[in-house]
Amino acid sequence: MISTDSLVRIALDLQLGISHQDRFHRLIQSVRSLLHSDASALLRYEGGQFIPLAIDGLMQDVLGRRFALADHPRMEAIARAGDVVRFPADSNLPDPYDGLIPDHDDFRVHACVGLPLFSDQTLIGALTIDGMNPTQFDGISDEELRLVGALAAAALSNALLLERLARQSSEPLAPSSQNGPGQPEMIGRSPAMDRLRHEIAVVASSELNVLILGETGVGKELIAKAVHQGSPRASAPLVYLNCAALPESVAESELFGHVKGAFTGAIHNRAGKFELADKGTLFLDEIGELSLSLQAKLLRVLQYGDLQRIGDDTPLKVNVRILAATNRELKQAVVEGQFRSDLYHRLSVFPIHAPALRERPDDIPLLAGYFCERCRVSLGLERLRIEPRALQLLGSYDWPGNVRELEHAIHRAAVLARAEQGSQAPALDCHHFNLATGSAPSSSRIPVEQAPQQITAGIGLRTATDAFQLRLIEQTLAAQHGNWAATARALEMDGGNLHRLARRLGLKP
Ligand SMILES: Nc1ncnc2c1ncn2[C@@H]1O[C@H](COP(=O)(O)OP(=O)(O)OP(=O)(O)O)[C@@H](O)[C@H]1O
Ligand SMILES: [Mg+2]
Repeated sequence: MISTDSLVRIALDLQLGISHQDRFHRLIQSVRSLLHSDASALLRYEGGQFIPLAIDGLMQDVLGRRFALADHPRMEAIARAGDVVRFPADSNLPDPYDGLIPDHDDFRVHACVGLPLFSDQTLIGALTIDGMNPTQFDGISDEELRLVGALAAAALSNALLLERLARQSSEPLAPSSQNGPGQPEMIGRSPAMDRLRHEIAVVASSELNVLILGETGVGKELIAKAVHQGSPRASAPLVYLNCAALPESVAESELFGHVKGAFTGAIHNRAGKFELADKGTLFLDEIGELSLSLQAKLLRVLQYGDLQRIGDDTPLKVNVRILAATNRELKQAVVEGQFRSDLYHRLSVFPIHAPALRERPDDIPLLAGYFCERCRVSLGLERLRIEPRALQLLGSYDWPGNVRELEHAIHRAAVLARAEQGSQAPALDCHHFNLATGSAPSSSRIPVEQAPQQITAGIGLRTATDAFQLRLIEQTLAAQHGNWAATARALEMDGGNLHRLARRLGLKP
């Protein structure tokens, strides 16, 4: 039985929070003290998935996980119910939190209530309430649970409304908003990530060129996409060009196009990336690798807004916004004469600095959970959890390869754990993460001793071979600083075959 008093207290309490996050946290705390639940979560519903906003009694990595309805029958049941759902204690629907409650690896028989949250009859979220004791919530009526749900719905709907208003005045919004299951999302709640989101929102609405700086693997490409998506050009194309992957001989044609007969091999007229990006955005990745002569040509386009295809004198007008990214110290390259200072100044009107992962350790468990859930789906595992001590280990490592390295580490660990434990409910433990060796092997040759040793008999040659190949490729790739061509050479493999293998192993999309 819940007293009216305590409900009123929650309602008043919700007015006090200074930020949404704070308010959601208070709500979830009140649920615990009111219903004596062992685990609960407030989730927002968006694009076919539930996104945790606040949690209680659950592992920290849950905040980074996304629960797609298609993958989580319990969540789907809550989304479809229209009212309070009480799952029978012996329900055979898998629980999305199974294995994610500290010190309770097995979560088979328990009490579980789901409250769908609505605003104007639209599903906006859910509140899940779990208890270890199967009869824990029997004394609480549906009517009372509906009241709790109504309070949560009001708080959430209010927050969403404010966010929408803020968006209209181009204030920061959660870039998650265009995402659905499987779409990449920018994860992180640290102050550094909040600042980054704010900068993205501010610059996106302008027409300024943007220079995205940061170490390797910090998410510069993700930032470029977010800037484009948040800009008035969002419905026009975002054209990608990797300046490092361009041999000098084809770079100019890639950028500006050519006409038939302009050079040997020019058998058709061909538009360059600039033309393809007309009215949209051109993302020049690894801009620091562009040759000095191409820098000069690029500068001219930026200055005058027109260009010529190779072999053609007719000037073409283009309207293109440039986003450029590099993991080099571009300022230093200017000092050393490797990068034109006039181009640098044109590009760096608005620099965005992507923070290294070690500068925001609080985001590590969230990212780990996010990648874990993705691996779970892509590897077809029923559950996949990270042992608390492994999560601690991840938090204390300094991640020279940043988010990409973390993503690969989780993936590799998941493949190894599956090889060891089977695909039902593998758990990632410390020994699945060989972080020190993964980051900087001194030579590209990987000694056989570093092959996965924990693989036990009876897992099948195919799985074991996959695990070995995955580790070997990742270590070589790390040693070659992410350069696939060099990795193929070091492994004495054909580049195309390496790409196909890497895709099959899930190393590349
Ligand atoms: N905040 C984040 N949330 C979720 N995933 C992220 C985040 N940041 C980066 N990633 C993922 O990490 C990987 C590396 O990111 P990205 O390719 O954008 O790095 P980068 O900064 O361009 O690195 P490089 O300089 O090596 O090209 C990608 O798979 C990306 O989706
Ligand atoms: Mg990149």
